[in-house]
Amino acid sequence: MADAPTRADKFSFGLWTVDYTGADPFGGPTRSNLDVVHVVEKLNELGAYGLTFHDDDLFAFGSTDAERQNQIDRLKQALADTGLIVPMVTTNLFSAPVFKDGGFTSNDRAIRRFALRKVLRNIDLAAELGAKTFVMWGGREGAEYDSAKDIRQALERYREAVNLLGDYVTDKGYDIRFAIEPKPNEPRGDILLPTLGHALAFINSLERPELVGVNPEVGHEQMAGLNFAAGIAQALYHEKLYHIDLNGQRGIKYDQDLVFGHGDLYNAFALVDLLENGGPAGGKAYDGPRHFDYKPSRTEDETGVWDSAAANMRNYLLLKERAAAFRADPEVQEALEASKVTELSVPTLNEGESYDDILADRSAYEDFDASAYFNGKGFGFVRLQQLATEHLLGAR
Ligand code: GCO
Ligand code: MN
Ligand code: MN
Repeated sequence: MADAPTRADKFSFGLWTVDYTGADPFGGPTRSNLDVVHVVEKLNELGAYGLTFHDDDLFAFGSTDAERQNQIDRLKQALADTGLIVPMVTTNLFSAPVFKDGGFTSNDRAIRRFALRKVLRNIDLAAELGAKTFVMWGGREGAEYDSAKDIRQALERYREAVNLLGDYVTDKGYDIRFAIEPKPNEPRGDILLPTLGHALAFINSLERPELVGVNPEVGHEQMAGLNFAAGIAQALYHEKLYHIDLNGQRGIKYDQDLVFGHGDLYNAFALVDLLENGGPAGGKAYDGPRHFDYKPSRTEDETGVWDSAAANMRNYLLLKERAAAFRADPEVQEALEASKVTELSVPTLNEGESYDDILADRSAYEDFDASAYFNGKGFGFVRLQQLATEHLLGAR
């Protein structure tokens, strides 16, 4: 049952995930912070290949230049000692009081300028560490009250910021792309770019859309009641899946950030199947980091932290194995044919066919027997889903 994780699996973790101390709006920490060097060593031991972080995870907001540099040096040494890499870096524009109304879209212009400087400085660090992706999660870019935010102007300011960042990495020659992370709410009542679809539309309005993709998170789409695997399929379709945040969520409620697989397991199965087997000729549809953005539950001590980190990777690999068995099963292949899943890839029009041709085709309309679809011609999707269930449960 599934091998142990290796670097080839490209599993990465946010420093803020395993370092989550359990503080929530109703209670303080239940664990102490972990040192970054210890985190790098443990993740390496568990089979991960990468660590990601916000600037403020590594060195506290307001650190002196010397304190900041010391932490960067310690991280670099740990990376050199273990071989772990930093595939992605992100900036915290949500924790410090100054960002209470957001960063790029705060109503306060001085804060917007401060936010840009904070991000530019962190992009330099990302480049220095060889990160290829820069995530932007605008958790505080939003409002609680409709009268408090002019959404069109907020989008304009967001656009202004991202355009500037695109100019910056281009002029500096950095090999970095941006990935916007949508979320519908929490901590703001409503967050700008609440879903994958909103983000994709926004990206098309940018000056350098090729530099910007999405970093969708399982729980965030599911908080909005959306189908995550289906959203990822659309992001892939538009070639915009630049990064991904894997975790678990159970229904429309607060952001649970559970272990990947501990939420909607069916959708996790569909997602892994898509990422691993959904390429144009089968095989991988996405080759980037499998990044876990989860929170070890507040009930756990440090043993539980590392157990949960390992569980994320193990669940991914178990689902990958189950998805491979599903794809290889001749009965599944036959059921996919019978359900016409494969027929959807056949263009609706014949090559060179025009509307004149289809209008002249009697078999398409006059002679087509639509009534045969009553009391007959079922698609067999339930049988297909049962086969998926049996593979997921290890019964086949
Ligand atoms: C959340 C978000 C964050 C972001 C992270 C990266 O908890 O709602 O997922 O964890 O992913 O801040 O910028
Ligand atoms: Mn989240
Ligand atoms: Mn996330």
